[in-house]
Amino acid sequence: MQCRHCNNTAVIVNDFGSMPVANAFRNESDEDSFRYNLTTSFCDSCKLFQINDNPEVTQMFHNSYPFFTSTSKVMVNHFSEFFQEFKPDSSTDSFIVEIGSNDGSLLAQAKNDGFHHLGVDPSGNVVERAKNRGINAICEFFTEKLAKDIKTEHGMAKRIFAANVICHIPDLHDLARGIKELLATDGLFVFEEPYLGSMLEKVSYDQIYDEHIYIFSGISVQSVFAEYGLQLIDLQEQSTHGGSMRYVIAHEGFYTPSGEMLNILDREKEQGLNKIETYLEFANKCEKRKSELSELLSGLAKNGKRIAGYGATSKSTTILNYCNIGNDIIEYFCDTTPEKQGKLTPGSHIPVISRADAQERLPDYFILFAWNHAEEIMRFESESMPSNVAWISIIPKIEIVPR
Ligand code: TMP
Repeated sequence: MQCRHCNNTAVIVNDFGSMPVANAFRNESDEDSFRYNLTTSFCDSCKLFQINDNPEVTQMFHNSYPFFTSTSKVMVNHFSEFFQEFKPDSSTDSFIVEIGSNDGSLLAQAKNDGFHHLGVDPSGNVVERAKNRGINAICEFFTEKLAKDIKTEHGMAKRIFAANVICHIPDLHDLARGIKELLATDGLFVFEEPYLGSMLEKVSYDQIYDEHIYIFSGISVQSVFAEYGLQLIDLQEQSTHGGSMRYVIAHEGFYTPSGEMLNILDREKEQGLNKIETYLEFANKCEKRKSELSELLSGLAKNGKRIAGYGATSKSTTILNYCNIGNDIIEYFCDTTPEKQGKLTPGSHIPVISRADAQERLPDYFILFAWNHAEEIMRFESESMPSNVAWISIIPKIEIVPR
């Protein structure tokens, strides 16, 4: 297998089989969605963990992209803190760019603080929503060419932010050249993504789906950007999205790397993130999780128990399709996103309904697929859910949660 980034040999890790696009929620009358083979590999040269095949990016990010950052209050607060920590000192001559600005949850802060800003996102519907909030945004993929155009029109950026988006970009060479072009001499490129170390620790293999072309570590990010004279200068662990890492990048030699970053890089080596053996062990653990979940659910279904999913996450597409869980086992998904309600989950064809509708037909068991929002959801549901509804946890372990 050839590494998609550096063209050296990459070793195959997982084979999750045939998959639909994770966010391709569909109407009852629609054709079955496009499918591709979801496999992963690890490259011993550049240390990138990656999926080997992915649908065209335009199949993933389009005018009816069903994910809105502002769905979660916790995430909105998180972006507010993120911005406050990294905003430039002065708003008078500082230009801020966000790659993958979605509905503007982060840039709303820049707008309120009077910064000249620009959001870039390839999904028209989320860009419209940002614009309706008075945020400057354009519907484009971020490329080196676009970076040059932005620089010509707006000047260089003191900050380039991104959250849960850099791992979507297949061509990291083009991205790094774009950042090099657009970032001011003393500027910072700060981005955060689901973290490889957390994925291996929790066996949260549901982080692997079409949009996550790479799952990054400090080691791999350092290697990718170093090639373009960009230096990793800090790493900050985040609890969001089930365990994320924030990466801070600057022009080489401008800032001194933090002690915390060096500690995390050492820890990654101890955890074996630089070795193929670690990934092969992970693949075995994924297979074990698959058997455990299938056994638990088919046992409950045989005993006539009614099971529903909570949170029709993109991540759930990998679990449902890999573990062959369909609408014979899960009656429905409850989800707060209006764009998903009334549709069927990709590949597994399970209807998605609102929380209000779910209240009318509560199951015996709710599987918490939105496990990365567990705290927010349980804070709310532990008060309102009747005691005869039980919860099933799937990450970091499969269990019926004791009440
Ligand atoms: P995410 O894991 O990609 O953030 O997606 C979370 C999904 O879970 C999204 O479809 C919205 C849904 N959700 C709920 O249904 N209820 C909630 O309280 C929260 C926070 C999310």
